[in-house]
Amino acid sequence: MPALYNLERAGALPADTRIVGFSRTPMSDDVWRASLRDTTARHCDCGPVDDASWAAFAARIHYQAGDIGKPEDFAKLDRRLAELEAGAAATRVYYLATAPQFYEPIVTSLGAHGMAAEAHGPRRIVVEKPFGTDLSTARALNAHLHSVFHENQVFRIDHYLGKESVQNILALRFANTIFEPVWNRRYIDHVQITVAEEVKVGRRGAYYDTAGVLRDMFQNHLLQLLMVTAMEAPVRFDATAVRNEKVKVLEAIRPLDLAEVAAAGVRGQYRGYLDDPGVAPGSQTATFGAVRLEIDNWRWQGVPFYLRSGKAMSCRTTQIVIGFRQPPLELFAEGRRTFHREPNRLVIQIQPAEGIQLHFHTKVPGEGMRLRLTDLEFSYSREFQGRLPEAYEPLLLDVLTGDASLFARSDEVEKSWEIIDPFVRAWHSVDMPPIDAYESGDWGPLASAEWMAAQGRAWFDMCPVLT
Ligand code: BG6
Repeated sequence: MPALYNLERAGALPADTRIVGFSRTPMSDDVWRASLRDTTARHCDCGPVDDASWAAFAARIHYQAGDIGKPEDFAKLDRRLAELEAGAAATRVYYLATAPQFYEPIVTSLGAHGMAAEAHGPRRIVVEKPFGTDLSTARALNAHLHSVFHENQVFRIDHYLGKESVQNILALRFANTIFEPVWNRRYIDHVQITVAEEVKVGRRGAYYDTAGVLRDMFQNHLLQLLMVTAMEAPVRFDATAVRNEKVKVLEAIRPLDLAEVAAAGVRGQYRGYLDDPGVAPGSQTATFGAVRLEIDNWRWQGVPFYLRSGKAMSCRTTQIVIGFRQPPLELFAEGRRTFHREPNRLVIQIQPAEGIQLHFHTKVPGEGMRLRLTDLEFSYSREFQGRLPEAYEPLLLDVLTGDASLFARSDEVEKSWEIIDPFVRAWHSVDMPPIDAYESGDWGPLASAEWMAAQGRAWFDMCPVLT
């Protein structure tokens, strides 16, 4: 709702857009409008809600009481929507802002009432995460959706793809010529993708304890970041071409057996997690995870992709670090020491402050060839005025216009689960040693740094490089 309101204020909503709430509590349009004004004011990153823009927005808002469990209530909803459309052809978007167990009954009822048929304009459905809890549930949900909707009507939302700085990875790679020649195994040693959060699970313990970091962050957000970092240039910028290239990345990820999976990752749990409401006693759920994936294709063979995410970490930062190889010859080593100078890096900071930093060595003025790592920096806030749109804003507009480029396709979601499922199984296997604890404010358990060191690498444990 804050995203829609921001679009309203930016004049970006199509003129005759209507927003219809559907839920059990009986209430009038006006009561719902008033409660939305209140929650929008509290949750919108848009300053005070002003009367004039709210009045224009509120005029678009309607409410229809109904119960997802009562199929006949969908007939009422359909009639209400038809009334608002006043006989004209219209685009309808059904947005499932519900708990995931309601997805299937909603889809069934929409189908039973002919509400997916496109005789009077496009009909689209938006599905939030979690999209299933493993490969088989994701397949079942896809099959159910496809029994009523065509794939091109289904929009599986992952808000990471709506972030400006994530979309900018595509611009960085495919609107420039200077990065692409080095974007491969010849120049890149490894890639690190980190989504660190300071927050703990808070009141989401009951959900989180069944999901853990793998299902909550890896299957969706982290793999999406990996795909846009690793994909080939699409032949054109449309939903089919972009998603074909993304899926090819997932297809090239080396499958691992159970023993390999255990060695290809580290898990941890912040101290105090077991006292959070909703968490099962003695829970072994990971609130931190790091995994190593190998992409078996010409571009990336031998370049590990390290994915890591955790709650209660030292700061909030999402960054992709492209770690380059060392120069083939060290001209400026002191004495005969083997050199272990920090390699060049490209740090793409997704949030909190958005931008890019290139790290390279420079001669320190003065005697000798003393070197220091310095950087070139691009910062969104310095370069562009005004607020950046929240991730949901471009995504909602894309649904309205039918552009699915930034939404997950059915095969993409299933492939993602295929990659993450073995880690979930291994991390929950009874053969696993008890999970490592870490203190809030650490970068995960000590084992994580040791695991990297054993591979001759180090995490880039840096709180946002840009502020
Ligand atoms: C959600 C997860 O999908 O993404 C949350 O369920 C997580 O656990 C959130 O906190 C992170 O999103 P963002 O945009 O704040 O990085």
